[in-house]
Amino acid sequence: MKSTAIVLAAGQGKRMNSKVQKQFLLIKGKPVLYYSLSCFQNSREIEEIIVVTGKDSINFCKQEIIEAYGFSKVKAVIAGGRERYDSVYAGLCACEDSDYVFIHDGARPFLTEDMIRRGKEAVLASGACVIGMPSKDTIKIADENGMVASTPSRSLVWNIQTPQIFSYTAIREAYERARQQNMADITDDAMVMERFGNMKIKLVEGSYENIKITTPEDILVAEKILEKIQKIY
Ligand code: CTP
Ligand code: MG
Repeated sequence: MKSTAIVLAAGQGKRMNSKVQKQFLLIKGKPVLYYSLSCFQNSREIEEIIVVTGKDSINFCKQEIIEAYGFSKVKAVIAGGRERYDSVYAGLCACEDSDYVFIHDGARPFLTEDMIRRGKEAVLASGACVIGMPSKDTIKIADENGMVASTPSRSLVWNIQTPQIFSYTAIREAYERARQQNMADITDDAMVMERFGNMKIKLVEGSYENIKITTPEDILVAEKILEKIQKIY
């Protein structure tokens, strides 16, 4: 039984507004992408890693990250696509011999071995799961005029993170179906499964520290989290 991590690092990072793409910015001297790769490299649950990055960053990634830190589980560094779902699809096509895939945002440095283990357990039981956390905030659904339309019960609202973990054939089939239709508003892999797949998706607790680096202040938060978890990477 083979589990592959697909780590996404092909985004432009527009909201970060920085010259260096956010997945390559340094947190305490190491690139953002380093931290999630390190977690997958050290995980007993993961056999192989596929890194998806921009065409122009493939060599940099190979030399400055994968070779530099000795990430021996990385089987391939491949070019992503225009949208996140294009990059995921490229990743899926590069690991067809996998039984399970852990699809992860390279911009999310602080996943943990515990999370991977909980996810693995859930995917073995149900075939599909996503890591997330119950929402701390009350969420409002807006209408087109910016007015409140409704309020879902907070106890049922989760903020979704990654990894999102699936049986390979189930997510591949869902992606194949999705790609023949309209993917315009797809923002995560669970949505592909919800709309085009046939598996129920289990929600699995991650952590509030499993943040995605999105805007400049997230780098400061990430530094603080790293100090707190005091993990020796
Ligand atoms: N991603 C990707 N390929 C894309 C778009 C996104 O591999 N075409 C990856 C990003 O590198 C990131 C993850 O998907 O690790 C989550 O995306 P997001 O936070 O939106 O990153 P960006 O798209 O880079 O940022 P922005 O939306 O601000 O431009
Ligand atoms: Mg984006």
